[in-house]
Amino acid sequence: MKHTLLKTTAIAMALSVGVVQAAEYKASTAEGPIKIVNLKAMEAQVEANMDKGAFGYIRGGAEDENNLRANTRAFDKKYIMPRSLQGIEFSDINLKTEFLGIKLDTPIIQAPMAAQGLAHQQGEVATAKGMAKAGSIFSLSTYGNKTIKEVAQAQPGYPFFFQLYMSKNDAFNQYILSQAKQYGAKGIIMTIDSSVGGYREDDVKNNFQFPLGFANLEAFAKISDDKSKTGKGSGISEIYAQAKQAFTPADIQYVKKMSGLPVIVKGIESPEDADTAIKAGADAIWVSNHGGRQLDSAPATIDVLPAIAKVVNKRVPIVFDSGVRRGSHVFKALASGADVVAVGRPILYGLNLGGAEGVNSVIQQLNKELRINMMLGGARNVKEIQATHLYTDADFK
Ligand code: LAC
Repeated sequence: MKHTLLKTTAIAMALSVGVVQAAEYKASTAEGPIKIVNLKAMEAQVEANMDKGAFGYIRGGAEDENNLRANTRAFDKKYIMPRSLQGIEFSDINLKTEFLGIKLDTPIIQAPMAAQGLAHQQGEVATAKGMAKAGSIFSLSTYGNKTIKEVAQAQPGYPFFFQLYMSKNDAFNQYILSQAKQYGAKGIIMTIDSSVGGYREDDVKNNFQFPLGFANLEAFAKISDDKSKTGKGSGISEIYAQAKQAFTPADIQYVKKMSGLPVIVKGIESPEDADTAIKAGADAIWVSNHGGRQLDSAPATIDVLPAIAKVVNKRVPIVFDSGVRRGSHVFKALASGADVVAVGRPILYGLNLGGAEGVNSVIQQLNKELRINMMLGGARNVKEIQATHLYTDADFK
């Protein structure tokens, strides 16, 4: 309602001076811890609070959204056996862990997501602060609304990763990787599953174009003669069209050499790709189907994780994402071979509803649920979760 009013006023004003221009985008300015019953229920709250096109872009998945739904539902096919005679006190439950040498207060990290200015006026700066508060890792997308420098300075001393969409223009790749290194990113997340955008119907229906620019692309445009689109006024497909498409293992080697940082290859669902990436020098594998936003017929990530973990065989750590909405999902991913578990959309919902504190509230809700699952499932810490056997219906036949 608020947005409709704003838009109407802006169009009326524009018409009165004879120029039609889009209304200025108004994102949330909410600040403070939020009450969460469960992560799924946050979606409806955010929908009521956000511009329709922006919400559709964040929430949506590809085509019929089978993969989006399957990611979360597939967790239900795995069971955690209750264990009660191991003398565990609730105060024994410990979520601390480590990933690529970074100490974490929780095995839950943030999945990189574009355009966080859609959710909150402070965008990625607030998310970075919220993740620092949770004692975890923030990841900045190439298509973020803040620069690498801005997020690095938002939470001095706290670890962050930079997520790279390689560009067809190699000068951009060199520029952005040198920025990541200069401002202290602890690793590069190299996304390889988005050579073309998935067909996302909400964006088509809403004719969604980003109302805000992508800060890293804008910064590069200022210092180069690059004429690429920089976000504002473009749809995601136009942005993806500028990104590199034909990936080979040599690209992984290139990013490693160019950045001098650990490279986490993200968007892997097949054991073959995992093996190829490791042989090319990947320092970690990120099992993901991009939250169901790309290949709608892809399997749920939790279903492919055990086979990938087998092939990876502890050569490198594994990050897992897509569909995680419960502490039990985190438990099941860790028990199926993941080292850390990443969460996407719910963090943007927390950002929308409560800024940095809202982001922290989302992680604390998952931590709370995870601790209960650990207590009832008989696992004191992340290592014990990883050693836990999950059951399926086949075990009870
Ligand atoms: C998306 C990208 C930009 O899924 O990660 O829209």
